[in-house]
Order: sequence, then C-alpha cells, then structure tokens
Amino acid sequence: MIARALPIPAYTQEIIEGLTSPRKALPCKLFYDELGSTLFEEITRLPEYYLTRTELEILETSSQEIVRTAGSPAAVVELGAGTARKTATLLAAIVRRQIAVKYLPVDISPSALGEAKRRISAEVPGALVRPVVADFGQGFGFLGELPSPKLVLYLGSSIGNFDLSDAIAMLRAVRRQLLPGDCLLLGTDMVKSPAILLPAYDDARGITAEFNRNVLRRINREFGANFDLDSFRHLALWNKAGSRMEIYLESSRPQKVTLKLTGTVVEFGNRERVHTENSYKYNRSMILNMLSDSGFTLAKSWFDSRKWFGLHLARA
Ligand code: AVJ
Repeated sequence: MIARALPIPAYTQEIIEGLTSPRKALPCKLFYDELGSTLFEEITRLPEYYLTRTELEILETSSQEIVRTAGSPAAVVELGAGTARKTATLLAAIVRRQIAVKYLPVDISPSALGEAKRRISAEVPGALVRPVVADFGQGFGFLGELPSPKLVLYLGSSIGNFDLSDAIAMLRAVRRQLLPGDCLLLGTDMVKSPAILLPAYDDARGITAEFNRNVLRRINREFGANFDLDSFRHLALWNKAGSRMEIYLESSRPQKVTLKLTGTVVEFGNRERVHTENSYKYNRSMILNMLSDSGFTLAKSWFDSRKWFGLHLARA
C-alpha cells in the first residue's frame, strides 16, 4: 500500500495548469480557507474597503422596499453567503411580512457557513437556516428542490470575480433552476475613480496583501510546496478597458518552487506575476445586458447616495 501524507485536493488540476501556464494564474476561490475567510472578514471592515458597508447601508435603507418588490419568498438562497453578515436585515424584513422563511446560505467555506448559521439563527428567529457547502462548478440542482417563490441573493459583488461570459453562464445556470416570478437580488460594485478603487484593493495595513499571499500558504500546506511568502509582492491594478481590478502576486526575484504532492516544479522570473483575481466594476448598461442575456428582467435597482454600489432585483 502507498501511504500518502496529503489527500489530493479536488482543484489540483486547476492549480497545476495555472502555475505551469505561460501567464501564471490561480483560481480566486482558493482564497477562502479558514484563515482566508477570516482575513476577508477583516477586509470588509477596513476603512478603504467601502463595498461591504455601502451594500449594508443600501440594505438597511431599502430592505422593506426590496422585499415588497420581490413578493413574499418562501425560500431565500444566498450564493457565496460567507458569514452572512449583511443578510439579517433582509431576512428580518421578510419575516415581518410572513411567519417564517427558509434560508439556505451556500458557500465553499464550511467554517464561514457555521458562523452564518449561528448569526442568522440568533438574529432572525423566524428564519429556518440550512447551510449548503457547494462549489458553483457543481451546478445549482439544489435550487430546483426548494419551494417557490424563491429569492436568490448574490451579494457583495462576488459576481465580479467572473469574466462577463462566465458570469452570464453562471446566472443562466441559476435561471434554469427557477420558475417564472422567482427573483434574483444581485449586488454589484460600480465603476468609479481609481483613487477610490486602488486603496480598496491595496490597504494601508496590508490585510489585502496578506489575504492574497494566503493562497501560497494554502498551497504550501495542501501540496507540500515551498513558496516563500516574503518574496511575493501584492499588486492591485485598475484595468480601465476591461472595467476590472486585477490582483497579482509578483515574484521579487528569480526562484524555483516545488509542489511535493504532484512533483511539479514552477520557475519564476524576476517580477513575474501570478494573476490571482479579477474584480469587475459595472455600469448600468453592463448590468442590464448581463441580466437580460441570462434570462432575467431587471425590476428595480437601489444605490447608495454616491452610486458606488448597486443592488438589482431581477425577475426570472
Ligand atoms: C468577495 C469577490 C467581492 O472582489 O472585492 C476583496 C474579494 N479581493 N479584496 C472583491 C476581494 C480583494 C471581493 N469579492
């Protein structure tokens, strides 16, 4: 029998392909191990990272109206729920109009979901919480089994991690599991000055840098790799033509890294980059097109006073 020190993770293929491609890249879902999820929570509280608090502000002002426009959902499904910090307001507005609601937070991080369940059960007694650990790559079959009318939440501008065509494919896959009249509430970060965007992705305390480098720490642990975290610099760039923030790790010297688990050797040139994330920023026409191309009709959008972030209610 061959004894293996490490189990082979499901995303091994993606990582090896990403690191051995001429333009090195890693999937951004790798950020969210236990430490990564904690670091992301910390990011959401940074003064520079306006997204979470701006979206929360919209939810706090407009939850009643959003719920009224959506009808009375029997089930609320939240894609990429994380610890569900923003969702209580919305669920509270729902149980104010009806006795109970089923709430299914869906995420790839079991630790974040545990906290989501504790939080929502404590804050919204009328919510019946059923966490679902899932990767969106596995499809949205679980949606079809739920009672309608359904409200699907995709908050935090997490959609912004997908290129437009992948975002549409993902929203279409959601749409296929919905009945006419079911709703989607989509949160999107809006295009704004790089003077605001850049610090949001490169904060003064270096928490985002730590979050970014954590993917290397994770690969070290799960693949027996020897990335030297100190020799990779966090880089956040605004790509205006692509309407997105681009996040990289840049090697500060030529170096060789070995992944013991797979026997992969990866060579880095001086200042060679690994692309770790895109975060798309939207304008109204991008949102309208994205929704209509995926089988939804935009019912209404809500914004904060500075129009930095938008919440869009769309009907299947
Ligand atoms: C969780 C994808 C919405 O793009 O703003 C935060 C992730 N990356 N800082 C974002 C993130 C760096 C975040 N999303």
